[in-house]
Amino acid sequence: MKEKRLAKELFDKRAEGYAKGCFASEEHVEAMLLAAEPEATQLALDVACGHGFLTEALATRTKLAAGIDLASEMLPKQGKACYLVGDAEYLPFREESLDLIVCRFSFHHFPSPEHALAEIHRVLKQGGTLVLADGISSELEEKSHYLNQVEKLRDPSHVKLYKKSELLRMLVEGGFVIAKVFHWELHQELEDWLSRAAGDESLKARLREIMRRELEENRTGLIFWEDGGKTYFAYQTVIITATKQFLK
Ligand SMILES: C[S@@+](CC[C@H](N)C(=O)[O-])C[C@H]1O[C@@H](n2cnc3c(N)ncnc32)[C@H](O)[C@@H]1O
Repeated sequence: MKEKRLAKELFDKRAEGYAKGCFASEEHVEAMLLAAEPEATQLALDVACGHGFLTEALATRTKLAAGIDLASEMLPKQGKACYLVGDAEYLPFREESLDLIVCRFSFHHFPSPEHALAEIHRVLKQGGTLVLADGISSELEEKSHYLNQVEKLRDPSHVKLYKKSELLRMLVEGGFVIAKVFHWELHQELEDWLSRAAGDESLKARLREIMRRELEENRTGLIFWEDGGKTYFAYQTVIITATKQFLK
């Protein structure tokens, strides 16, 4: 699939840019742990784990933690957890073999999110926990669509930042019961965001122009502000804790 090939290529190339900011934030890792409530007897998996910031935190709190990611350059070269290169939509684990699965800031890259959820559901034990964290787009279709167009321009491996209602529906239709939803506002500085764009200076200039116009137009639904000569904006994100339903 085009998006997967691009995701692998782009994340391999820009791995360094994802080793800081919200990805490395201890505060966000703590919020994920609060949502996941890992236990020392559990087997845990971090789907599309990137540099493994969360995977490593899970490894110290569970019996065994593994991380899987499409891009080998994103994976840590060493750590307490086990790491493997692979696709979120084809998890190399047995049915009902894992207690806890997390997936952070990656779901918007999966070309078939229902397929990824079906795989997560397959490998989770009954009653097992999934913690899914990602950005969300506006519930207004026009704003949701526009934000996703801008995101795709910046990163062609971007598939979709879903509305919160869409994420919750996908989870319920995928056989999960929603236990908790936590909201997290993620602040980004425009130039830092642009530094991870998959393109040359002319693409960055075009995106800069689009985003600066947002201060007045607000077509993306993101909240923009300026401070000390820099432009900032905030993504709305969610941390959803869901459990795999027990089959009767
Ligand atoms: C924005 S990074 C987030 C990384 C990590 N979860 C974190 O929170 O730091 C997105 C990651 O998703 C991975 N990815 C994208 N599509 C994937 C897929 N189909 N299967 C596995 N990993 C994928 C990318 O390689 C990248 O490492």
